[in-house]
Amino acid sequence: ANDKEPVKQRLYEVCELLQTSLGYYDWVGFYFANHEQKTLHLEAFAGEPTDHIVIPFGKGICGQVAESNANFVVADVKAQNNYIACNMYVKAEIVVPLFKSGKNIGQIDIDSHTEDPFSVEDERFLEWINQQVAEIL
Ligand code: SME
Repeated sequence: ANDKEPVKQRLYEVCELLQTSLGYYDWVGFYFANHEQKTLHLEAFAGEPTDHIVIPFGKGICGQVAESNANFVVADVKAQNNYIACNMYVKAEIVVPLFKSGKNIGQIDIDSHTEDPFSVEDERFLEWINQQVAEIL
């Protein structure tokens, strides 16, 4: 992994740390926005590889957060109609936007195989993680 550029490497390490430390964080990734193309791009992740490397704004939970600038906590993915399934084991998801100088530039996305696992503490924690990440960008 030493061939990765330093920022990508740091992002990857954050994903790894979260995914291995928190039992219900089964997949952890950072998507970053291309505001001209209106697409999100997966820059780093830990967990099973996903086909969804590029996600258009508006599509899925991630795409909705790119437009809403708000946290999206999904207790049960089966109850969502605008949802992109990455893996059949995923039961819940949380997406928290990442702001740099007040602009929504991306997001952290967590998938869980546990039912309804995310609380307001996860939201505060992931907001804090994103603030730390914004500092190294
Ligand atoms: N489930 C997401 C897509 C990304 S995967 O979870 C890694 C969504 O609905 O936007």
